Amino acid sequence: MQDLMTKLIDVVLEEIVDGLSHRQKQLPSKLFYDEKGSALFDKICRLEEYYPTRTELMLMKDNITDIINSLGENIHFVEFGSGSSLKTRLLLSNMEKISTYVPIDISEEHLFKTVESLNQRYPDLKIVPVAADYTKPFSLPDEIRDEKNIIAYFPGSTIGNFTKVQAQKFIEGVASVTGKEGGFLLGADMQKDTGVLEAAYNDSKGITAEFNLNILEHLNREFNFNFNRSKFRHKAVYNKIEGRIEMYLISLEEQEVFSGDFKFSFGEDEKILTEYSHKYTPGLVADLVSDHFVIQKYWTDSNNYFALFFLKPI
Ligand code: AVI
Repeated sequence: MQDLMTKLIDVVLEEIVDGLSHRQKQLPSKLFYDEKGSALFDKICRLEEYYPTRTELMLMKDNITDIINSLGENIHFVEFGSGSSLKTRLLLSNMEKISTYVPIDISEEHLFKTVESLNQRYPDLKIVPVAADYTKPFSLPDEIRDEKNIIAYFPGSTIGNFTKVQAQKFIEGVASVTGKEGGFLLGADMQKDTGVLEAAYNDSKGITAEFNLNILEHLNREFNFNFNRSKFRHKAVYNKIEGRIEMYLISLEEQEVFSGDFKFSFGEDEKILTEYSHKYTPGLVADLVSDHFVIQKYWTDSNNYFALFFLKPI
């Protein structure tokens, strides 16, 4: 077990060192989500300026009957991610025809908590958790492997945090889960006014800044770096050409940072890229999924800020 942990840490350290060795320095976004980062993300979701979470929930509440009816009968519902959210509960509460619920998460501890609380809330629901990294190939549980109506669910616009290449690879993986007779319910944040987007990622309370800077504390604690977080500042910009928010940590001065034998030099104003958050249009979603799915239907809010797509395999 210890060996496996050491190996995992080595693999991530390699990724970090590689990212910091590029001309445009970058860090893997997954490093946001340590305990403190996950709590900060929950806070972000409740911020006035951060519209995606409440908009997605609202549009689902407004369209719940239509959404459920589109999914069909006898559903095996496979959620990519944590599965404990209000959105999941909204769907589970309204789906009498769901046969099995399969939450997939990399963290066994998180899965265990999810299953425990959902079992209490839905005692008749069959829940089959899968502990896996859903961005890599994994096996479906025996209970549903040969079933027909497998509906994959990927809410929360996390698709936007992948590069286009990563997103396409992920969609290929989803297609192998749904087979030709299932479906894919996908949430995506939509392109909109730069002011609205930049406010959502540079909130006035500084919670997103805290979330971004926390990555440096994570690196110091787990990977033996000696970052001084007060020598960096947070900034998120909307790149209109690429249709994405780019989140950076900017060095306030010339400095050197170490981890063991590794040394990284930063110039004044040099930026580390920590996250992409791609914003879509229905046309871009159609293009993105076109090798495996077509859009059968989608729901959006009155501002067209967020959309939930129901995709059918081709
Ligand atoms: C998790 N993900 C969908 C969030 C987003 O909006 O891209 C992560 C986030 N980063 C800063 N604020 C929120």
